[in-house]
Amino acid sequence: MTIGRGRGSRMGPTVWLVFSVLVWGVTFVRAGASWPAAAITAAAEKPPVVKAEAPKVAQAQMPADPASTAGATYVGEDTCVTCHAPQQAGYDKSLHHQKVDPRTPEALKSCETCHGPGSKHAADPEKSKLRKFSTLKADEANAVCTTCHASGDHALWAGSKHEARGVTCISCHSVHNAKGEKQLKEETQPKVCATCHQQIVNKLNRFNHMPVREDKMQCSSCHNTHGSANVKMLRAGTTVDGACTSCHAEKRGPFLWEHAPVVNACVTCHDPHGSSNDRMLVSKVPFLCQRCHVTSRHPPTVYDSFIMKNSSNGNKLTGRGCVICHSQIHGSNSPNGKAFLR
Ligand code: HEC
Ligand code: HEC
Ligand code: HEC
Ligand code: HEC
Ligand code: HEC
Ligand code: HEC
Ligand code: HEC
Ligand code: HEC
Ligand code: HEC
Ligand code: HEC
Repeated sequence: MTIGRGRGSRMGPTVWLVFSVLVWGVTFVRAGASWPAAAITAAAEKPPVVKAEAPKVAQAQMPADPASTAGATYVGEDTCVTCHAPQQAGYDKSLHHQKVDPRTPEALKSCETCHGPGSKHAADPEKSKLRKFSTLKADEANAVCTTCHASGDHALWAGSKHEARGVTCISCHSVHNAKGEKQLKEETQPKVCATCHQQIVNKLNRFNHMPVREDKMQCSSCHNTHGSANVKMLRAGTTVDGACTSCHAEKRGPFLWEHAPVVNACVTCHDPHGSSNDRMLVSKVPFLCQRCHVTSRHPPTVYDSFIMKNSSNGNKLTGRGCVICHSQIHGSNSPNGKAFLR
């Protein structure tokens, strides 16, 4: 058995990989049978051992094979594709089909890695039913995938909002009919997300928006849809602001003069997905400012003229309005005081 290197870094730390392969190797020797099919079946029969090494637990997560396949053995892909040519095409193009990579389903039992042993099914497809993803419970379908995809970006899948709400790997991915990168079901991320988050995706069409439509950014630039340590499945940081300042570092502070709402949340003033206002502001300046600054000494409300004292249109100062003067609205280090003028 060869130890996989090559693409290792993309699935998680190489260390984990080498370790897991070693542990599987040990399982193989102990089980004294052909690996890994026997290892998978053996693990499935035993209740999960709490103290067991991580990779073994992962194997134990494989849901039980359907009852009608009891006693079946592995027959191999060549047999399956005699009847399932449509499924073969998409699978053959995918990374799952890279036999040189010892971690792929192809290098294990191919189709039967995911669908279960098929000798009985191949002999009588009407009577013996294999694992059918479209009818599996969410946690059972996910368990097949997380057997292999449980580290790195996927480590926090369990307990994520998506997992908790019954969204499955195949709500977004397809093994046989992928249309987009990373085996996504649709050509683009927004299209995948739009099936459930239409309102958010619509915001990309607003006048100002993160350049997702322009393909300079993805939903996944900010979110890890597989779960994260931050709120709202944000990829970086531990707060909403932490996520924003992971790219906009110059807004992070600390500043000599902090602007209270900036410290609290960027999203008080900006809509991260897009808005019809400049700079993705949730409301136009000066109205945005006047949501909070209604009692300040100068310009009190929209109804009072300001700055151009003699003009009744002073309050209509549009565009950058207040920030023409208060240009360091995110915070300032100026010795001249706290008004964010420079
Ligand atoms: C002799 C032809 C034949 C062979 C060989 C065959 N299948 Fe099937 N398979 C079928 C038919 C027919 C159905 C539809 C059964 C139904 O809808 O009742 C089916 C259904 C399925 C399903 C859907 C779930 C189910 O059981 O209804 C899966 C998954 C599947 N096959 C996978 C495989 C795999 C994996 C192999 C190789 C181990 C394989 N098939 C070999 C004919 C075959
Ligand atoms: C990585 C796991 C995996 C491998 C390997 C795999 N499949 Fe599938 N199969 C799935 C999933 C998930 C679906 C649900 C549809 C989709 O994602 O495209 C599916 C759907 C199917 C279906 C349709 C029945 C259904 O569930 O709706 C058949 C038939 C099938 N696969 C046969 C095969 C054959 C034949 C092979 C090998 C050439 C194979 N599969 C390899 C995961 C796998
Ligand atoms: C037997 C292990 C195994 C199982 C089971 C498995 N995968 Fe994979 N998967 C892999 C490997 C290995 C790769 C290639 C990873 C790499 O190159 O980093 C991969 C790659 C992927 C990719 C990335 C494809 C790309 O183009 O970058 C997606 C998405 C994926 N798998 C989804 C799934 C889903 C969904 C399931 C469950 C239906 C599943 N996998 C089941 C081993 C597995
Ligand atoms: C809500 C949609 C969604 C769900 C649910 C989802 N994914 Fe993904 N997945 C994505 C998107 C979008 C990407 C590409 C961006 C990225 O890498 O985060 C991706 C990327 C991947 C990749 C390739 C990334 C890499 O590390 O190379 C794998 C593998 C993968 N997903 C597996 C899974 C598995 C396994 C599950 C279920 C446990 C799952 N996904 C659930 C949307 C989803
Ligand atoms: C620039 C970073 C960024 C990008 C790009 C981004 N988001 Fe968000 N998203 C956020 C932030 C920040 C929040 C939290 C907002 C809040 O707390 O008010 C969020 C919240 C969400 C929520 C939860 C909304 C709620 O009310 O709880 C969903 C759903 C969502 N985003 C989907 C998407 C989708 C789909 C895309 C791609 C079309 C996307 N996001 C792109 C930063 C981003
Ligand atoms: C199959 C439906 C479905 C798809 C597809 C889907 N989501 Fe979700 N998403 C949900 C559900 C359900 C929730 C939980 C909503 C809630 O609790 O209010 C959720 C919540 C979220 C949240 C908020 C998490 C939180 O902690 O509040 C974000 C961010 C998010 N999704 C991003 C995405 C992105 C990005 C995509 C596309 C790559 C996507 N979703 C695709 C169903 C989906
Ligand atoms: C993954 C990196 C990244 C993250 C995270 C991120 N941004 Fe951005 N942001 C960008 C990029 C790239 C642009 C576009 C810059 C350009 O086109 O010149 C941008 C542009 C902006 C703009 C200016 C839009 C305009 O009209 O010029 C604002 C405001 C903004 N981001 C606020 C935020 C806020 C608030 C957050 C947190 C919710 C955030 N960003 C998170 C990368 C990011
Ligand atoms: C009090 C409201 C408010 C808060 C809170 C706020 N911003 Fe802004 N932001 C603005 C205004 C107003 C502009 C437009 C400034 C201009 O036109 O000169 C702006 C512009 C921006 C721009 C684009 C122009 C530039 O200066 O680069 C980015 C990026 C940005 N903000 C990021 C952030 C981030 C990140 C946070 C959180 C750390 C944040 N903002 C919090 C009001 C706010
Ligand atoms: C969400 C509420 C909120 C919004 C919106 C907001 N601010 Fe503030 N701002 C505050 C708070 C709270 C303080 C701190 C007041 C204090 O310390 O007395 C502050 C302080 C200031 C100060 C410093 C004055 C001082 O006495 O400390 C200036 C100048 C200022 N804001 C201008 C603006 C401008 C211009 C805008 C619009 C771009 C704006 N603010 C939007 C809440 C807000
Ligand atoms: C022509 C430049 C200019 C414009 C435009 C401007 N300000 Fe000011 N603002 C100042 C100056 C200068 C100070 C400092 C005054 C002082 O220290 O006495 C100040 C002080 C402030 C203060 C702190 C003092 C106080 O009154 O509590 C707030 C809050 C404030 N401005 C909000 C705003 C808002 C909101 C707007 C837009 C509606 C705005 N400013 C437009 C120049 C301007």
